[in-house]
Amino acid sequence: MTQQRRSAEFFAEDGVAGFTHRAMTKATGLDDTSLKGPLIGICNTFSELNNCHSNFRTLCEAVKRGVWQAGGTPVEFPTISLGETFLAPTSMLHRNLAAMDTEEMIRAQPIDGVVLLTGCDKTTPAALMGAASADLPAIMLSGGPQINGHFRGETLGACTDCRRLTAEHRAGEIDDDTYRALEDGIVRGPGHCMVMGTASTMGALTEALGMALPGNAAIPAVDARRLQHAQAVGRRITAMAAEDLRPSRILTRAAFENAVTVLSSLGGSTNAVVHLPAIAGRAGVELPLELFDRIGRRTPILADMRPAGRYQMQELYHAGGVPALMRRLLPLLHGDALTVTGRTLAEEVSTARIENDEVIRPLENPVWPHGGIAVLRGNLAPDGAVIKHVAAPRERWRHRGRAVVFDGVDDLKARIDDEDLDVDADSVLVLRNAGPVGGPGMPEVGNLPIPKRLLRQGVRDMVRVCDGRMSGTAFGTVVLHVAPEAAVGGPLALVRDGDEIELDVPGRSLHLHVDEAELERRRAEWTPPDPAYRRGYGRIFLDHVEQAPLGCDFDVLHGRDPAGSYRQPK
Ligand code: FES
Ligand code: MG
Repeated sequence: MTQQRRSAEFFAEDGVAGFTHRAMTKATGLDDTSLKGPLIGICNTFSELNNCHSNFRTLCEAVKRGVWQAGGTPVEFPTISLGETFLAPTSMLHRNLAAMDTEEMIRAQPIDGVVLLTGCDKTTPAALMGAASADLPAIMLSGGPQINGHFRGETLGACTDCRRLTAEHRAGEIDDDTYRALEDGIVRGPGHCMVMGTASTMGALTEALGMALPGNAAIPAVDARRLQHAQAVGRRITAMAAEDLRPSRILTRAAFENAVTVLSSLGGSTNAVVHLPAIAGRAGVELPLELFDRIGRRTPILADMRPAGRYQMQELYHAGGVPALMRRLLPLLHGDALTVTGRTLAEEVSTARIENDEVIRPLENPVWPHGGIAVLRGNLAPDGAVIKHVAAPRERWRHRGRAVVFDGVDDLKARIDDEDLDVDADSVLVLRNAGPVGGPGMPEVGNLPIPKRLLRQGVRDMVRVCDGRMSGTAFGTVVLHVAPEAAVGGPLALVRDGDEIELDVPGRSLHLHVDEAELERRRAEWTPPDPAYRRGYGRIFLDHVEQAPLGCDFDVLHGRDPAGSYRQPK
Protein backbone atom coordinates (compact mmCIF):
# COMPACT_ATOMS: atom_id res chain seq x y z
CA MET A 1 0.00 0.00 0.00
CA THR A 2 1.22 3.46 -0.84
CA GLN A 3 -0.42 5.12 2.13
CA GLN A 4 -1.35 4.11 5.63
CA ARG A 5 -4.70 2.36 5.90
CA ARG A 6 -7.44 4.86 6.66
CA SER A 7 -8.56 3.05 9.81
CA ALA A 8 -4.98 2.83 11.08
CA GLU A 9 -4.66 6.59 10.58
CA PHE A 10 -7.94 7.11 12.41
CA PHE A 11 -6.97 5.08 15.45
CA ALA A 12 -3.36 6.31 15.53
CA GLU A 13 -4.03 10.03 15.48
CA ASP A 14 -2.28 12.10 18.13
CA GLY A 15 -3.95 13.79 21.03
CA VAL A 16 -7.60 14.05 21.75
CA ALA A 17 -8.68 12.99 18.25
CA GLY A 18 -7.04 9.54 18.43
CA PHE A 19 -8.05 9.13 22.08
CA THR A 20 -11.66 9.85 21.20
CA HIS A 21 -11.62 7.62 18.13
CA ARG A 22 -10.37 4.65 20.15
CA ALA A 23 -12.61 5.33 23.17
CA MET A 24 -15.78 5.70 21.12
CA THR A 25 -15.04 2.61 19.06
CA LYS A 26 -14.28 0.54 22.16
CA ALA A 27 -17.65 1.68 23.53
CA THR A 28 -19.22 -0.68 20.98
CA GLY A 29 -17.40 -3.62 22.57
CA LEU A 30 -14.47 -3.80 20.18
CA ASP A 31 -11.05 -4.13 21.81
CA ASP A 32 -7.49 -3.19 20.83
CA THR A 33 -7.10 -6.37 18.75
CA SER A 34 -10.18 -5.45 16.71
CA LEU A 35 -8.88 -1.92 16.20
CA LYS A 36 -5.93 -3.32 14.24
CA GLY A 37 -8.35 -3.79 11.30
CA PRO A 38 -8.56 -3.51 8.37
CA LEU A 39 -11.92 -1.92 9.11
CA ILE A 40 -14.47 -3.19 6.60
CA GLY A 41 -17.69 -1.26 6.14
CA ILE A 42 -20.80 -3.22 5.28
CA CYS A 43 -23.26 -0.87 3.69
CA ASN A 44 -26.62 -2.40 4.57
CA THR A 45 -29.73 -1.24 2.74
CA PHE A 46 -32.06 -3.24 4.98
CA SER A 47 -35.52 -1.73 5.44
CA GLU A 48 -38.88 -3.11 6.41
CA LEU A 49 -40.20 -1.00 3.56
CA ASN A 50 -38.15 -3.02 1.09
CA ASN A 51 -39.42 -6.60 0.90
CA CYS A 52 -36.64 -7.51 -1.51
CA HIS A 53 -34.07 -6.88 1.24
CA SER A 54 -35.82 -8.70 4.09
CA ASN A 55 -32.93 -11.21 4.36
CA PHE A 56 -30.24 -8.52 4.72
CA ARG A 57 -29.74 -8.83 8.47
CA THR A 58 -28.79 -12.49 8.12
CA LEU A 59 -26.77 -11.77 5.00
CA CYS A 60 -24.85 -9.02 6.77
CA GLU A 61 -23.96 -11.40 9.64
CA ALA A 62 -22.51 -13.81 7.09
CA VAL A 63 -20.32 -11.08 5.58
CA LYS A 64 -19.12 -10.23 9.08
CA ARG A 65 -18.10 -13.85 9.70
CA GLY A 66 -16.04 -13.75 6.52
CA VAL A 67 -14.34 -10.51 7.52
CA TRP A 68 -13.45 -11.90 10.98
CA GLN A 69 -12.16 -15.11 9.37
CA ALA A 70 -9.76 -13.07 7.24
CA GLY A 71 -8.48 -10.96 10.12
CA GLY A 72 -10.54 -7.84 9.46
CA THR A 73 -13.04 -5.97 11.60
CA PRO A 74 -16.52 -5.59 10.13
CA VAL A 75 -18.63 -2.51 10.82
CA GLU A 76 -22.17 -2.35 9.51
CA PHE A 77 -23.71 0.98 8.52
CA PRO A 78 -27.01 1.94 6.87
CA THR A 79 -27.73 3.91 3.76
CA ILE A 80 -31.17 4.63 2.39
CA SER A 81 -33.05 1.68 0.98
CA LEU A 82 -35.05 1.99 -2.23
CA GLY A 83 -37.94 -0.46 -2.14
CA GLU A 84 -39.38 -0.33 -5.63
CA THR A 85 -42.96 -0.98 -4.58
CA PHE A 86 -43.05 1.41 -1.67
CA LEU A 87 -41.63 4.64 -3.08
CA ALA A 88 -43.61 7.43 -4.71
CA PRO A 89 -43.66 8.98 -7.20
CA THR A 90 -40.93 6.60 -8.42
CA SER A 91 -37.80 5.01 -6.95
CA MET A 92 -35.84 6.50 -9.86
CA LEU A 93 -36.27 9.92 -8.27
CA HIS A 94 -34.26 8.62 -5.32
CA ARG A 95 -31.54 6.65 -7.12
CA ASN A 96 -29.21 9.65 -7.21
CA LEU A 97 -29.96 10.43 -3.57
CA ALA A 98 -28.98 6.87 -2.63
CA ALA A 99 -25.84 7.15 -4.77
CA MET A 100 -24.86 10.36 -2.97
CA ASP A 101 -25.59 8.79 0.42
CA THR A 102 -23.42 5.79 -0.47
CA GLU A 103 -20.55 7.85 -1.87
CA GLU A 104 -20.44 10.32 0.99
CA MET A 105 -20.69 7.69 3.75
CA ILE A 106 -17.90 5.62 2.19
CA ARG A 107 -15.66 8.67 2.01
CA ALA A 108 -16.59 10.18 5.38
CA GLN A 109 -16.08 7.08 7.55
CA PRO A 110 -12.70 5.60 8.54
CA ILE A 111 -13.09 2.36 6.62
CA ASP A 112 -10.57 0.59 4.39
CA GLY A 113 -12.98 -1.28 2.15
CA VAL A 114 -16.72 -1.72 1.75
CA VAL A 115 -19.23 -4.42 0.92
CA LEU A 116 -22.42 -3.06 -0.63
CA LEU A 117 -25.60 -5.06 -0.01
CA THR A 118 -28.12 -4.44 -2.76
CA GLY A 119 -30.93 -6.18 -4.61
CA CYS A 120 -34.06 -4.24 -5.48
CA ASP A 121 -33.95 -2.34 -8.78
CA LYS A 122 -32.30 1.01 -8.10
CA THR A 123 -30.16 -0.09 -5.16
CA THR A 124 -27.56 -1.77 -7.36
CA PRO A 125 -26.90 1.12 -9.77
CA ALA A 126 -26.99 3.60 -6.88
CA ALA A 127 -24.36 1.64 -4.93
CA LEU A 128 -22.17 1.17 -8.00
CA MET A 129 -22.36 4.90 -8.77
CA GLY A 130 -21.42 5.84 -5.22
CA ALA A 131 -18.67 3.23 -4.97
CA ALA A 132 -17.18 4.30 -8.32
CA SER A 133 -17.01 7.93 -7.22
CA ALA A 134 -15.63 7.22 -3.73
CA ASP A 135 -13.18 4.72 -5.20
CA LEU A 136 -12.38 2.72 -2.07
CA PRO A 137 -11.96 -1.09 -2.43
CA ALA A 138 -15.53 -2.36 -2.84
CA ILE A 139 -17.45 -5.56 -3.55
CA MET A 140 -21.11 -5.73 -4.44
CA LEU A 141 -23.22 -8.39 -2.73
CA SER A 142 -26.72 -9.12 -3.94
CA GLY A 143 -29.42 -10.34 -1.58
CA GLY A 144 -30.36 -12.71 -4.37
CA PRO A 145 -33.49 -13.29 -6.41
CA GLN A 146 -36.78 -14.67 -5.08
CA ILE A 147 -37.53 -18.32 -5.71
CA ASN A 148 -40.15 -18.96 -8.37
CA GLY A 149 -43.74 -18.04 -7.70
CA HIS A 150 -46.22 -20.91 -7.72
CA PHE A 151 -50.02 -21.05 -7.95
CA ARG A 152 -52.24 -24.06 -8.73
CA GLY A 153 -49.56 -25.87 -10.66
CA GLU A 154 -48.29 -22.85 -12.56
CA THR A 155 -44.87 -21.21 -12.18
CA LEU A 156 -45.22 -17.46 -11.76
CA GLY A 157 -42.79 -14.56 -12.03
CA ALA A 158 -42.74 -11.19 -10.25
CA CYS A 159 -43.74 -8.95 -11.57
CA THR A 160 -44.19 -9.98 -15.20
CA ASP A 161 -47.17 -12.07 -14.17
CA CYS A 162 -48.50 -9.30 -11.90
CA ARG A 163 -49.04 -7.34 -15.12
CA ARG A 164 -50.24 -10.26 -17.24
CA LEU A 165 -52.72 -11.43 -14.60
CA THR A 166 -53.97 -7.89 -14.01
CA ALA A 167 -54.61 -7.49 -17.76
CA GLU A 168 -56.50 -10.83 -17.70
CA HIS A 169 -58.49 -9.65 -14.69
CA ARG A 170 -59.28 -6.33 -16.42
CA ALA A 171 -60.43 -8.31 -19.45
CA GLY A 172 -62.71 -10.43 -17.24
CA GLU A 173 -60.78 -13.68 -17.77
CA ILE A 174 -59.89 -14.10 -14.06
CA ASP A 175 -62.46 -13.70 -11.28
CA ASP A 176 -61.93 -11.49 -8.23
CA ASP A 177 -61.34 -14.36 -5.77
CA THR A 178 -58.66 -15.98 -7.91
CA TYR A 179 -57.03 -12.63 -8.51
CA ARG A 180 -56.74 -12.08 -4.75
CA ALA A 181 -55.54 -15.62 -4.08
CA LEU A 182 -52.75 -15.19 -6.63
CA GLU A 183 -51.20 -12.50 -4.42
CA ASP A 184 -50.10 -15.15 -1.95
CA GLY A 185 -48.41 -17.36 -4.51
CA ILE A 186 -46.36 -15.03 -6.62
CA VAL A 187 -43.74 -13.55 -4.24
CA ARG A 188 -42.92 -16.30 -1.79
CA GLY A 189 -40.17 -14.78 0.30
CA PRO A 190 -37.10 -12.55 0.40
CA GLY A 191 -35.15 -11.50 -2.65
CA HIS A 192 -35.65 -9.29 -5.65
CA CYS A 193 -38.01 -9.99 -8.56
CA MET A 194 -36.89 -13.25 -10.18
CA VAL A 195 -37.62 -12.62 -13.82
CA MET A 196 -34.93 -10.85 -15.88
CA GLY A 197 -36.25 -7.46 -14.78
CA THR A 198 -34.11 -4.55 -13.71
CA ALA A 199 -32.92 -6.07 -10.45
CA SER A 200 -31.82 -9.37 -12.01
CA THR A 201 -30.33 -7.53 -14.96
CA MET A 202 -28.29 -5.15 -12.81
CA GLY A 203 -27.17 -8.08 -10.65
CA ALA A 204 -25.91 -9.90 -13.72
CA LEU A 205 -24.22 -6.76 -15.08
CA THR A 206 -22.45 -6.28 -11.76
CA GLU A 207 -20.74 -9.62 -12.35
CA ALA A 208 -19.96 -8.62 -15.93
CA LEU A 209 -18.42 -5.38 -14.67
CA GLY A 210 -16.17 -7.41 -12.38
CA MET A 211 -17.57 -5.77 -9.24
CA ALA A 212 -18.93 -8.95 -7.62
CA LEU A 213 -17.58 -12.42 -6.93
CA PRO A 214 -18.57 -14.91 -9.64
CA GLY A 215 -22.02 -16.39 -9.04
CA ASN A 216 -23.33 -13.43 -7.06
CA ALA A 217 -26.32 -12.62 -9.25
CA ALA A 218 -28.26 -15.84 -9.43
CA ILE A 219 -28.01 -17.72 -6.10
CA PRO A 220 -31.57 -17.58 -4.72
CA ALA A 221 -32.07 -15.36 -1.67
CA VAL A 222 -33.20 -18.30 0.46
CA ASP A 223 -30.43 -20.72 -0.60
CA ALA A 224 -27.77 -21.42 2.06
CA ARG A 225 -25.17 -20.93 -0.64
CA ARG A 226 -26.13 -17.23 -0.66
CA LEU A 227 -24.81 -17.04 2.93
CA GLN A 228 -21.71 -19.01 2.00
CA HIS A 229 -21.14 -16.58 -0.88
CA ALA A 230 -21.55 -13.66 1.56
CA GLN A 231 -18.86 -15.14 3.80
CA ALA A 232 -16.52 -15.42 0.84
CA VAL A 233 -17.22 -11.76 0.05
CA GLY A 234 -16.22 -10.85 3.62
CA ARG A 235 -12.93 -12.71 3.28
CA ARG A 236 -12.18 -11.27 -0.14
CA ILE A 237 -12.90 -7.61 0.74
CA THR A 238 -10.51 -7.89 3.67
CA ALA A 239 -7.75 -8.99 1.31
CA MET A 240 -8.75 -6.33 -1.23
CA ALA A 241 -8.38 -3.61 1.38
CA ALA A 242 -4.78 -4.74 1.94
CA GLU A 243 -4.18 -4.87 -1.82
CA ASP A 244 -5.84 -1.46 -2.25
CA LEU A 245 -7.69 -2.84 -5.30
CA ARG A 246 -10.07 -0.01 -6.14
CA PRO A 247 -13.05 0.26 -8.52
CA SER A 248 -11.06 2.63 -10.76
CA ARG A 249 -8.92 -0.35 -11.83
CA ILE A 250 -12.00 -2.50 -12.51
CA LEU A 251 -14.57 -0.10 -14.00
CA THR A 252 -12.78 0.46 -17.32
CA ARG A 253 -14.22 0.88 -20.81
CA ALA A 254 -13.63 -2.84 -21.37
CA ALA A 255 -15.70 -3.67 -18.28
CA PHE A 256 -18.61 -1.54 -19.49
CA GLU A 257 -18.49 -3.09 -22.95
CA ASN A 258 -18.61 -6.49 -21.25
CA ALA A 259 -21.68 -5.34 -19.32
CA VAL A 260 -23.43 -4.21 -22.51
CA THR A 261 -22.63 -7.56 -24.13
CA VAL A 262 -24.07 -9.48 -21.20
CA LEU A 263 -27.12 -7.17 -21.16
CA SER A 264 -27.68 -7.96 -24.83
CA SER A 265 -27.26 -11.67 -24.34
CA LEU A 266 -29.71 -11.76 -21.44
CA GLY A 267 -32.46 -9.88 -23.26
CA GLY A 268 -32.19 -7.73 -20.13
CA SER A 269 -34.04 -4.66 -18.87
CA THR A 270 -34.17 -1.38 -20.79
CA ASN A 271 -33.47 0.33 -17.48
CA ALA A 272 -29.86 -0.82 -17.80
CA VAL A 273 -29.58 1.54 -20.77
CA VAL A 274 -30.12 4.36 -18.26
CA HIS A 275 -28.12 2.94 -15.33
CA LEU A 276 -24.96 1.85 -17.16
CA PRO A 277 -24.18 5.31 -18.64
CA ALA A 278 -24.73 6.78 -15.17
CA ILE A 279 -22.27 4.34 -13.55
CA ALA A 280 -19.84 4.81 -16.44
CA GLY A 281 -20.07 8.59 -16.03
CA ARG A 282 -18.77 8.18 -12.47
CA ALA A 283 -15.84 6.15 -13.77
CA GLY A 284 -15.00 8.67 -16.51
CA VAL A 285 -16.17 6.36 -19.31
CA GLU A 286 -18.55 7.59 -22.01
CA LEU A 287 -21.22 5.10 -23.02
CA PRO A 288 -23.22 6.51 -25.94
CA LEU A 289 -26.57 4.93 -26.86
CA GLU A 290 -25.12 3.79 -30.19
CA LEU A 291 -22.76 1.44 -28.35
CA PHE A 292 -25.79 -0.48 -27.01
CA ASP A 293 -27.12 -0.83 -30.53
CA ARG A 294 -23.76 -1.80 -32.04
CA ILE A 295 -23.00 -4.42 -29.39
CA GLY A 296 -26.61 -5.61 -29.49
CA ARG A 297 -26.41 -6.29 -33.22
CA ARG A 298 -23.41 -8.59 -32.81
CA THR A 299 -24.50 -10.36 -29.62
CA PRO A 300 -26.96 -13.26 -29.67
CA ILE A 301 -29.41 -13.81 -26.84
CA LEU A 302 -28.22 -16.99 -25.15
CA ALA A 303 -30.12 -16.81 -21.85
CA ASP A 304 -33.77 -17.71 -22.37
CA MET A 305 -35.15 -15.46 -19.67
CA ARG A 306 -38.57 -14.01 -18.95
CA PRO A 307 -40.15 -11.60 -19.73
CA ALA A 308 -38.68 -12.08 -23.22
CA GLY A 309 -38.18 -15.84 -22.89
CA ARG A 310 -39.11 -18.83 -20.74
CA TYR A 311 -37.02 -19.12 -17.58
CA GLN A 312 -36.41 -17.28 -14.32
CA MET A 313 -33.41 -16.73 -12.05
CA GLN A 314 -33.84 -20.05 -10.23
CA GLU A 315 -33.35 -21.91 -13.51
CA LEU A 316 -30.44 -19.64 -14.48
CA TYR A 317 -28.79 -20.48 -11.17
CA HIS A 318 -29.17 -24.22 -11.71
CA ALA A 319 -27.85 -23.81 -15.26
CA GLY A 320 -24.59 -22.33 -13.96
CA GLY A 321 -25.53 -18.69 -13.45
CA VAL A 322 -23.91 -15.66 -15.01
CA PRO A 323 -20.39 -17.22 -15.03
CA ALA A 324 -21.74 -19.98 -17.30
CA LEU A 325 -23.33 -17.41 -19.60
CA MET A 326 -20.07 -15.43 -19.72
CA ARG A 327 -18.11 -18.56 -20.48
CA ARG A 328 -20.28 -19.01 -23.57
CA LEU A 329 -19.87 -15.33 -24.44
CA LEU A 330 -16.09 -15.21 -23.95
CA PRO A 331 -15.36 -14.79 -27.68
CA LEU A 332 -17.39 -11.54 -27.49
CA LEU A 333 -16.04 -10.31 -24.14
CA HIS A 334 -12.85 -8.57 -23.08
CA GLY A 335 -11.53 -11.54 -21.14
CA ASP A 336 -8.57 -9.58 -19.78
CA ALA A 337 -10.77 -7.22 -17.75
CA LEU A 338 -9.83 -7.25 -14.05
CA THR A 339 -12.37 -8.30 -11.43
CA VAL A 340 -12.67 -7.90 -7.64
CA THR A 341 -11.05 -11.32 -7.27
CA GLY A 342 -7.77 -9.82 -8.54
CA ARG A 343 -8.00 -12.17 -11.51
CA THR A 344 -9.31 -11.53 -14.98
CA LEU A 345 -12.82 -12.23 -16.16
CA ALA A 346 -11.54 -15.00 -18.45
CA GLU A 347 -9.65 -16.63 -15.57
CA GLU A 348 -12.84 -16.57 -13.51
CA VAL A 349 -15.35 -17.88 -16.04
CA SER A 350 -13.45 -20.07 -18.51
CA THR A 351 -13.98 -23.17 -16.37
CA ALA A 352 -17.56 -22.37 -15.27
CA ARG A 353 -19.89 -25.36 -15.51
CA ILE A 354 -22.80 -25.06 -17.93
CA GLU A 355 -25.53 -27.38 -16.70
CA ASN A 356 -28.40 -26.69 -19.06
CA ASP A 357 -28.24 -25.84 -22.77
CA GLU A 358 -31.90 -24.80 -22.86
CA VAL A 359 -31.53 -22.06 -20.26
CA ILE A 360 -28.08 -20.95 -21.47
CA ARG A 361 -27.92 -21.75 -25.16
CA PRO A 362 -24.71 -22.41 -27.08
CA LEU A 363 -23.51 -19.61 -29.40
CA GLU A 364 -24.46 -21.65 -32.46
CA ASN A 365 -28.04 -22.18 -31.25
CA PRO A 366 -29.14 -18.86 -29.73
CA VAL A 367 -32.61 -17.89 -28.55
CA TRP A 368 -32.28 -14.93 -30.89
CA PRO A 369 -29.44 -14.02 -33.26
CA HIS A 370 -28.97 -10.53 -31.80
CA GLY A 371 -29.60 -8.52 -28.64
CA GLY A 372 -33.03 -7.54 -27.38
CA ILE A 373 -32.76 -3.74 -27.27
CA ALA A 374 -32.63 -1.40 -30.27
CA VAL A 375 -31.81 2.32 -30.31
CA LEU A 376 -34.09 4.48 -32.43
CA ARG A 377 -33.59 7.97 -33.83
CA GLY A 378 -35.76 10.29 -35.88
CA ASN A 379 -37.51 13.64 -35.74
CA LEU A 380 -39.52 12.44 -32.74
CA ALA A 381 -36.38 11.38 -30.82
CA PRO A 382 -33.38 13.41 -32.03
CA ASP A 383 -31.27 12.29 -29.05
CA GLY A 384 -32.51 8.72 -29.17
CA ALA A 385 -35.10 6.32 -27.80
CA VAL A 386 -34.99 2.62 -27.01
CA ILE A 387 -37.25 -0.35 -27.61
CA LYS A 388 -37.00 -3.85 -26.24
CA HIS A 389 -38.12 -5.32 -29.52
CA VAL A 390 -37.45 -8.87 -28.39
CA ALA A 391 -40.41 -8.45 -26.02
CA ALA A 392 -42.66 -7.10 -28.82
CA PRO A 393 -44.54 -9.07 -31.48
CA ARG A 394 -42.56 -9.06 -34.71
CA GLU A 395 -45.49 -7.92 -36.84
CA ARG A 396 -45.50 -4.60 -34.99
CA TRP A 397 -41.79 -3.82 -35.53
CA ARG A 398 -42.89 -1.79 -38.54
CA HIS A 399 -46.03 0.17 -37.85
CA ARG A 400 -47.64 3.45 -38.85
CA GLY A 401 -50.65 4.72 -36.95
CA ARG A 402 -52.56 7.71 -35.64
CA ALA A 403 -51.43 9.20 -32.34
CA VAL A 404 -53.66 9.23 -29.29
CA VAL A 405 -51.89 11.61 -26.94
CA PHE A 406 -51.92 11.71 -23.14
CA ASP A 407 -50.36 14.72 -21.44
CA GLY A 408 -49.24 12.92 -18.33
CA VAL A 409 -50.09 10.06 -16.01
CA ASP A 410 -53.17 11.80 -14.59
CA ASP A 411 -54.57 12.44 -18.06
CA LEU A 412 -53.86 8.83 -18.97
CA LYS A 413 -55.69 7.48 -15.92
CA ALA A 414 -58.64 9.79 -16.53
CA ARG A 415 -59.21 8.88 -20.17
CA ILE A 416 -57.64 5.53 -21.14
CA ASP A 417 -60.76 3.51 -20.36
CA ASP A 418 -63.21 6.13 -21.65
CA GLU A 419 -65.57 4.21 -23.93
CA ASP A 420 -65.72 7.24 -26.26
CA LEU A 421 -61.93 7.56 -26.66
CA ASP A 422 -61.14 7.74 -30.41
CA VAL A 423 -58.74 4.79 -30.49
CA ASP A 424 -58.40 1.50 -32.33
CA ALA A 425 -55.93 -1.36 -32.37
CA ASP A 426 -53.70 0.43 -34.92
CA SER A 427 -53.48 3.69 -32.98
CA VAL A 428 -50.16 4.73 -31.43
CA LEU A 429 -50.60 5.58 -27.75
CA VAL A 430 -48.37 8.50 -26.74
CA LEU A 431 -47.62 9.38 -23.13
CA ARG A 432 -45.52 12.49 -22.52
CA ASN A 433 -44.32 14.48 -19.52
CA ALA A 434 -43.03 11.23 -18.01
CA GLY A 435 -39.31 11.95 -18.46
CA PRO A 436 -36.66 12.77 -15.85
CA VAL A 437 -37.94 16.34 -15.41
CA GLY A 438 -41.57 15.88 -16.46
CA GLY A 439 -42.33 12.64 -14.58
CA PRO A 440 -40.72 13.75 -12.37
CA GLY A 441 -38.03 11.11 -12.01
CA MET A 442 -38.83 9.21 -15.20
CA PRO A 443 -41.41 6.79 -13.78
CA GLU A 444 -42.08 3.31 -15.19
CA VAL A 445 -45.25 4.15 -17.04
CA GLY A 446 -44.17 3.55 -20.64
CA ASN A 447 -46.19 0.36 -21.13
CA LEU A 448 -49.50 2.21 -21.11
CA PRO A 449 -52.48 -0.05 -20.39
CA ILE A 450 -54.48 -1.17 -23.39
CA PRO A 451 -57.90 0.58 -23.35
CA LYS A 452 -60.56 -1.71 -21.80
CA ARG A 453 -62.74 -1.49 -24.88
CA LEU A 454 -59.92 -2.91 -27.00
CA LEU A 455 -59.01 -5.51 -24.36
CA ARG A 456 -62.54 -6.88 -24.64
CA GLN A 457 -61.99 -7.18 -28.39
CA GLY A 458 -58.91 -9.32 -27.71
CA VAL A 459 -56.23 -6.64 -28.26
CA ARG A 460 -53.25 -7.31 -25.97
CA ASP A 461 -50.54 -5.14 -27.53
CA MET A 462 -50.33 -1.76 -29.25
CA VAL A 463 -47.49 0.56 -30.26
CA ARG A 464 -46.78 2.92 -27.40
CA VAL A 465 -44.35 5.87 -27.27
CA CYS A 466 -43.19 7.55 -24.06
CA ASP A 467 -40.41 9.67 -22.59
CA GLY A 468 -40.58 7.63 -19.40
CA ARG A 469 -39.24 4.18 -18.58
CA MET A 470 -40.82 0.75 -18.42
CA SER A 471 -40.38 -1.84 -15.73
CA GLY A 472 -37.83 -4.45 -16.71
CA THR A 473 -40.49 -7.06 -15.99
CA ALA A 474 -42.89 -5.59 -18.58
CA PHE A 475 -43.33 -6.39 -22.26
CA GLY A 476 -45.00 -5.10 -25.43
CA THR A 477 -44.26 -2.80 -28.37
CA VAL A 478 -43.13 0.11 -26.25
CA VAL A 479 -40.79 2.90 -27.34
CA LEU A 480 -39.13 4.36 -24.25
CA HIS A 481 -36.72 7.05 -23.02
CA VAL A 482 -37.61 9.41 -25.89
CA ALA A 483 -35.04 12.20 -25.70
CA PRO A 484 -35.13 15.07 -25.28
CA GLU A 485 -38.23 14.61 -23.13
CA ALA A 486 -41.42 16.66 -23.65
CA ALA A 487 -41.06 18.69 -20.44
CA VAL A 488 -37.83 20.31 -21.70
CA GLY A 489 -39.30 21.00 -25.13
CA GLY A 490 -38.48 17.78 -26.99
CA PRO A 491 -40.55 17.08 -30.14
CA LEU A 492 -42.79 14.68 -28.18
CA ALA A 493 -44.32 17.85 -26.70
CA LEU A 494 -45.56 18.85 -30.17
CA VAL A 495 -47.50 15.70 -31.13
CA ARG A 496 -51.28 16.09 -31.47
CA ASP A 497 -54.10 13.56 -31.67
CA GLY A 498 -54.40 12.16 -35.18
CA ASP A 499 -50.77 12.85 -36.22
CA GLU A 500 -49.20 9.83 -37.89
CA ILE A 501 -46.25 8.20 -36.15
CA GLU A 502 -44.11 5.60 -37.86
CA LEU A 503 -42.04 3.04 -36.01
CA ASP A 504 -39.41 1.12 -37.95
CA VAL A 505 -37.35 -1.12 -35.68
CA PRO A 506 -35.26 -2.74 -38.44
CA GLY A 507 -34.54 0.79 -39.81
CA ARG A 508 -33.96 2.05 -36.23
CA SER A 509 -36.25 5.05 -36.73
CA LEU A 510 -39.14 6.81 -35.05
CA HIS A 511 -40.77 9.41 -37.26
CA LEU A 512 -43.56 11.93 -36.77
CA HIS A 513 -45.24 12.61 -40.11
CA VAL A 514 -45.80 16.33 -39.58
CA ASP A 515 -43.83 18.83 -41.66
CA GLU A 516 -41.16 21.00 -40.10
CA ALA A 517 -43.06 24.27 -40.69
CA GLU A 518 -46.06 22.99 -38.76
CA LEU A 519 -43.80 21.70 -35.97
CA GLU A 520 -42.20 25.18 -35.79
CA ARG A 521 -45.66 26.75 -35.40
CA ARG A 522 -46.50 24.35 -32.60
CA ARG A 523 -43.12 24.94 -30.96
CA ALA A 524 -43.78 28.67 -30.82
CA GLU A 525 -47.07 28.00 -28.99
CA TRP A 526 -45.57 25.52 -26.52
CA THR A 527 -45.12 26.43 -22.87
CA PRO A 528 -43.24 24.21 -20.40
CA PRO A 529 -45.30 22.50 -17.69
CA ASP A 530 -45.08 23.87 -14.15
CA PRO A 531 -42.11 22.38 -12.26
CA ALA A 532 -43.11 19.49 -10.01
CA TYR A 533 -40.99 20.80 -7.12
CA ARG A 534 -39.93 24.22 -5.91
CA ARG A 535 -37.85 23.22 -2.87
CA GLY A 536 -35.90 20.41 -1.28
CA TYR A 537 -34.42 17.36 -2.91
CA GLY A 538 -37.03 17.48 -5.68
CA ARG A 539 -35.81 20.96 -6.61
CA ILE A 540 -32.17 19.80 -6.61
CA PHE A 541 -33.23 16.87 -8.82
CA LEU A 542 -35.00 19.10 -11.36
CA ASP A 543 -32.12 21.58 -11.44
CA HIS A 544 -29.42 18.98 -12.02
CA VAL A 545 -30.85 15.85 -13.62
CA GLU A 546 -29.59 15.01 -17.10
CA GLN A 547 -31.53 13.37 -19.92
CA ALA A 548 -31.90 9.60 -20.30
CA PRO A 549 -29.01 9.00 -22.76
CA LEU A 550 -26.62 10.37 -20.12
CA GLY A 551 -28.11 8.15 -17.43
CA CYS A 552 -30.24 10.69 -15.52
CA ASP A 553 -27.35 11.39 -13.16
CA PHE A 554 -26.88 14.89 -11.77
CA ASP A 555 -24.55 17.08 -13.80
CA VAL A 556 -22.46 17.74 -10.66
CA LEU A 557 -21.89 14.04 -9.88
CA HIS A 558 -19.81 12.91 -12.85
CA GLY A 559 -16.36 11.55 -12.16
CA ARG A 560 -14.73 10.45 -8.95
CA ASP A 561 -13.28 12.02 -5.85
CA PRO A 562 -11.36 9.14 -4.29
CA ALA A 563 -11.46 8.50 -0.58
CA GLY A 564 -7.93 9.36 0.51
CA SER A 565 -6.27 10.07 3.81
CA TYR A 566 -8.57 9.93 6.77
CA ARG A 567 -6.50 12.31 8.91
CA GLN A 568 -8.71 15.08 10.23
CA PRO A 569 -7.63 18.72 10.14
CA LYS A 570 -5.85 19.70 13.35
FE1 FES B 1 -37.66 -5.13 -5.67
FE2 FES B 1 -39.02 -6.04 -7.95
S1 FES B 1 -39.80 -5.04 -6.15
S2 FES B 1 -36.89 -6.00 -7.49
MG1 MG C 1 -38.81 -2.78 -11.50
